[in-house]
Amino acid sequence: MRLLTVDTFASEAKKLRQHFEARFSNPRSATGDRFVWDLWNVEGQYTALRTPAWEYFPRKLYDAFHQRLVWWGRRTLGCHDVSPPWLSCYVNGCEQRLHGDLPHGPIAFVFSLTDWNERRFTGGETLLLRDEVLEYWDRFISTRSLEENEVLEVIPPRFNRLLAFDPRIPHGVRRVEGPMDPLYGRLVIHGWFVQPRPFIEGPLKERALQDAINRVTDVIGPHLEDGKRIAGLLSLGFSVRSGKAQNVRVLLNTLRGADQRLISDVQKALKTHDFPSGSGVSKVTLPLLFES
Ligand SMILES: [Fe+2]
Repeated sequence: MRLLTVDTFASEAKKLRQHFEARFSNPRSATGDRFVWDLWNVEGQYTALRTPAWEYFPRKLYDAFHQRLVWWGRRTLGCHDVSPPWLSCYVNGCEQRLHGDLPHGPIAFVFSLTDWNERRFTGGETLLLRDEVLEYWDRFISTRSLEENEVLEVIPPRFNRLLAFDPRIPHGVRRVEGPMDPLYGRLVIHGWFVQPRPFIEGPLKERALQDAINRVTDVIGPHLEDGKRIAGLLSLGFSVRSGKAQNVRVLLNTLRGADQRLISDVQKALKTHDFPSGSGVSKVTLPLLFES
């Protein structure tokens, strides 16, 4: 579960797309709002047009989308905020070669406003290096050949699709080849989910959750002994009803260096913990960030 995709993510997608199209509909016009694009070019690594998304779209429309994104991040990942997103447009020759971007946030996202079914270019897919590549020599079978889709996971940026992934995984955007017209390019809003911390919807108090977190920390301790290195984000979701955690499930797991026992121990610690038996139901998202 190193990535999540959500199709038909935002009801604002159509209007966001319409705003972009209206701005580019007449290439002979020279209104001020056209002069907002930066041609980002790091030779041999990144080439795309980009602009701050929050300034590009009408305020009310963009805010509605942004709030949707923020709340999805809180409920699904336990990340409280989103870094200021960019709007990027990939026309002929634009690409992002494979790279990793750790310092920005624990989870990256790409939200597509690309008219994928009507596209006039080739390429433009989001690429993620497959985990199997790391075990390549263990798995290599000399009697058969290897092709690119066994090395790279290829995710088309379909219109209104949100992709969230571990940005430590080498990733990129396949070079776009086709028209120069931005109307027919790969158009995405992208950024990072940031600030992982527990998120509660309901009457459960933070202090009561902290007791459970302390218990979780205790069971994690032995897994970090002997200098074992574990890094990544484990987000768990559960409900608290009548003093008990129910439906304790993994929402996202980008851990490296951890085995299944760690996750089972954490789930068990939550399931057996006694929460205050108040009335009502609380929904909790608990992100556990490992950086050892
Ligand atoms: Fe990136």
